[in-house]
Amino acid sequence: MKGIILAGGAGTRLFPLTEVASKQLMPVYDKPMIYYPLSTLMLLGINEILIISTPDDTPKYESLLGDGSKLGLSLEYTVQNKPNGIAEAFILGKNFIKNEPIALILGDNIFYGHKYLHNIQIQLDNFSGALIFGYKVNDPERYGVVEFDNNFNVISIEEKPKHPKSDYVIPGLYIYDNQVIDISNNLTPSSRGELEITDVNKEYLNKKSLKIELLGRGIAWLDTGTHKSLLEAGAFIETIESRQGLKIGCIEEVALSKNFISKSAFKELINSYPKNDYSEYLRKLIS
Ligand code: G1P
Repeated sequence: MKGIILAGGAGTRLFPLTEVASKQLMPVYDKPMIYYPLSTLMLLGINEILIISTPDDTPKYESLLGDGSKLGLSLEYTVQNKPNGIAEAFILGKNFIKNEPIALILGDNIFYGHKYLHNIQIQLDNFSGALIFGYKVNDPERYGVVEFDNNFNVISIEEKPKHPKSDYVIPGLYIYDNQVIDISNNLTPSSRGELEITDVNKEYLNKKSLKIELLGRGIAWLDTGTHKSLLEAGAFIETIESRQGLKIGCIEEVALSKNFISKSAFKELINSYPKNDYSEYLRKLIS
């Protein structure tokens, strides 16, 4: 399976000056925000990834991550000229996706938890339909909200409803079969002028091919869409990393653990890094 990271658009809502809104290049505690979604895709076993961002930020991602070969990845880049919505990623990424299924993750979403990715990875072989996730939050009106019947079958999905029908919302990790390209091509923009990912999910729901998996309370899904949630995400990462001495979202560590790179390629990579806490951590991993 291939992956897309959509990194741009929404971040510009966070800052007064759009010129400083390279949000996903900003650090969350000790590494650029994009490392978190990138490591999530890598942990799912995905190493062919398209990064879609704004005209200003795409070259910055390219200079940060290059073609990905140092991490055993194949990275490509595409520009989204305007924040036309998440579903536009499948139209812009059509030539990259080709005939395959695709996992899309938003550049500012952070997932953390034990084993949940392993369970998802098992479902990725011969994938068909759509797989999305549900997560209980305190402020569902900020997200895509999902309504269930008593057996946890999905009844409805609504984007940022004023009166949410449940506290369960849809995090920014979506897995679709190849129909997603046609579905996205046939969408009309919403009242906020975007091709909504919620409308893609509704289409799969109508076709009865939408699967939803609830992420339990042992899993952290952090969003960085407000000043407060951005600060909280940094504090969360710092707390766990300081307590355990293990890093979250460390792409070099994940590349090694997934055998995307050899130990000697890993050594060569960290030897090229400046001396700091991050490279010290990497050095310790193999000593
Ligand atoms: C988007 C989606 C929403 C989803 C959220 C997850 O919201 O439209 O359905 O729950 O991402 O982060 P937006 O970033 O446009 O506010």
